[in-house]
Amino acid sequence: MVRLYAEELTVRYDDRTIFERLSVHIPDRQITAIIGPNGCGKSTLLKTLTRIISPQSGAVILDGQAISQQHTKELAKKMAILPQTPEAASGLTVAELVSYGRFPYQKGFGRLTKQDYEAIDWALHMTKTADLKHRPVDALSGGQRQRVWIAMALAQETDIIFLDEPTTYLDIAHQLEVLELLERLNKEEGRTIVMVLHDINQAARFADYIIAMKGGAIIKSGRSEDVICREVLRDVFGIDADIGRDPRTNKPVCLTYHLLREAYSS
Ligand SMILES: Nc1ncnc2c1ncn2[C@@H]1O[C@H](COP(=O)(O)OP(=O)(O)OP(=O)(O)O)[C@@H](O)[C@H]1O
Ligand SMILES: [Mg+2]
Repeated sequence: MVRLYAEELTVRYDDRTIFERLSVHIPDRQITAIIGPNGCGKSTLLKTLTRIISPQSGAVILDGQAISQQHTKELAKKMAILPQTPEAASGLTVAELVSYGRFPYQKGFGRLTKQDYEAIDWALHMTKTADLKHRPVDALSGGQRQRVWIAMALAQETDIIFLDEPTTYLDIAHQLEVLELLERLNKEEGRTIVMVLHDINQAARFADYIIAMKGGAIIKSGRSEDVICREVLRDVFGIDADIGRDPRTNKPVCLTYHLLREAYSS
């Protein structure tokens, strides 16, 4: 039995239905990537799985219990999320922001403990942001800020980490660094990683399990070989893609593609 799955989720924003009876499971101790066109519901799925929004019907089950029934701090010790467009209160320093990741462990207005400081320093170290520690978050570049947000999610020390487009704003080297960091957390510490990615080659390379969505439905899920293929990319993105093998990783790689239809509809 997997730790985390969703049963028959129906999610609406006002009168617009985003999902209708969507079921999905998240493989334990693996890296899952969610791919799909803009507006297809990727962020909505992440928000529903992490209780940022509540479904109209259906349930998300974690460790045998609906997340809607779990205490906020207990849930926050199990799962962390990096949202697509996080916002910090202005004037916060990097260290202050990352320390917010420790909120599930704090009692009342308790000060940070030695263990909290260790977790914060570890998160800053892992994301290579320790030298930014005393800088205001407002004064960082987009890529620096993104890594600091990732540090905050890591400082929460959860088994399950959700990240909505974690490579946004990052140059290609920093993208790879972040993805390799997540891979290390998965391989060395057994953490479950669930991330939304737009780059299908990165999804193919780093994810053990890929969920391809379109129009609020899961079109295909499985190993990269089963999902990053001509038929699925045609159905999901409306592109005709030539797929090869990455000579370094032996994973599928989209070599080139062209549009088959108007790409702006989901
Ligand atoms: N707060 C909201 N209120 C109303 N509609 C919303 C809200 N958030 C998202 N939507 C709509 O729900 C649909 C799914 O949005 P979602 O953000 O989940 O897409 P996405 O797949 O993450 O897209 P992107 O790749 O652009 O981030 C879209 O049509 C969007 O306009
Ligand atoms: Mg999104």
